[in-house]
Amino acid sequence: MSEKAQEKNSLVLEIRNRAPEGSRQSQAQDGKSQPRLNGCVPLSHQVAGHKYGIDKMGILQHPDGTVLKQLQPPPRGPREMDFYTQVFGEGCSDPLLLALRPHLPTFYGTWSSPDTPNDLYLKLEDVTRRFSRPCIMDVKVGRRSYDPLALLEKREQQIAKYPLMEEIGFLLLGMRVYQPSHDCYVRHDQLFGRSLVKDTLTGGLARFFHDGVKLRKQTIHLCIRKVQNILRWFESQKQFHFYASSLLFVYEGASGVHAAAEPNNNNHHHHHHPPQDFSRMGTPTKNSCGRGGCAGDLPESLQNGAQTHSSPLNLGQSNGNGETEMEEEEEEREEDSGGWSGDEGTEGHVEVRMIDFAHVFPSQSPDEGYTHGLMNLLSTLEKILQD
Ligand SMILES: Nc1ncnc2c1ncn2[C@@H]1O[C@H](COP(=O)(O)OP(=O)(O)O)[C@@H](O)[C@H]1O
Ligand SMILES: [Mg+2]
Repeated sequence: MSEKAQEKNSLVLEIRNRAPEGSRQSQAQDGKSQPRLNGCVPLSHQVAGHKYGIDKMGILQHPDGTVLKQLQPPPRGPREMDFYTQVFGEGCSDPLLLALRPHLPTFYGTWSSPDTPNDLYLKLEDVTRRFSRPCIMDVKVGRRSYDPLALLEKREQQIAKYPLMEEIGFLLLGMRVYQPSHDCYVRHDQLFGRSLVKDTLTGGLARFFHDGVKLRKQTIHLCIRKVQNILRWFESQKQFHFYASSLLFVYEGASGVHAAAEPNNNNHHHHHHPPQDFSRMGTPTKNSCGRGGCAGDLPESLQNGAQTHSSPLNLGQSNGNGETEMEEEEEEREEDSGGWSGDEGTEGHVEVRMIDFAHVFPSQSPDEGYTHGLMNLLSTLEKILQD
């Protein structure tokens, strides 16, 4: 099999399911989508990290639209909770922490299900929520993925996962990219990121900004600006070092009209089938959307020999709860946003937020590892624009 054919074969696509009217109603009676954990369901649009149903713990979505991140075992979980509590604490007046808030998902405290009151979750803003067809990428930042307390074995294990981390300073953990011409998502998992070397890194990152037809240059410009703001924050502080933390990139994959008309395609408003893993289907010449040419039809410059890896996803069914509440909130937000249309050129088109703080440590020196990663990420984004 040719390299290209192999690549097509190993892409993972999600076909967006257009829910027939009224399906939300029937879904509640559908045995498979019975609400669990008080109406919370696995986060359907997660691109990396611990996954509910695959790992022992994972990320859920609350009916009110927030994201619930289960507290990891100590010391990681409590460390992440302490960090969010410090930054979003009511009494917080530290200008450094206040300046950090806009770069994080808003933290709404902890949550637990009445049935299992000892399982704590962090209740967080869903950064993707206002988007109709969110394209999402998780990029781990820093030269080291292990913290200062890590034992030798853990250090070696982390280094072995991506030996280039020290030099490159970032690693693509996962992404999903909307392809408007086929109304589907292309996904890449962490093995794709780990397969990238210096020569293929730019092409690999560029995939996140390619909609199957064109490169979204304006989106890249907007992402650069947001990353620069985060870099400025890091250069202003010596208080914290961040290890194994990520940037979550989100932009609107739908074009203007759809983006404005149908905010949010995530768990609440539309009925999703579990994403399908076409890589196991074995006929690379057939397009994976069933509608022609979607999967691997990237320009040569983006193919770059990087391997694409798939992972079967068995995340949850959608959730019909909390609908009224969500829709009301959504209307308010649309008014607030002053008629944001999702246009590629506008600020509101993208989000870049810091997430995953299980390894944030106090310090007294600049975070050289993280800033190195951000600077290299910025120059790689610039390079996509030049190529
Ligand atoms: N606030 C959020 N909004 C939207 N998606 C999120 C949010 N937090 C996490 N996610 C999704 O969940 C994934 C894993 O989150 P993360 O906090 O890194 O968990 P882990 O500790 O398991 O790595 C992210 O890659 C992203 O897809
Ligand atoms: Mg993570």
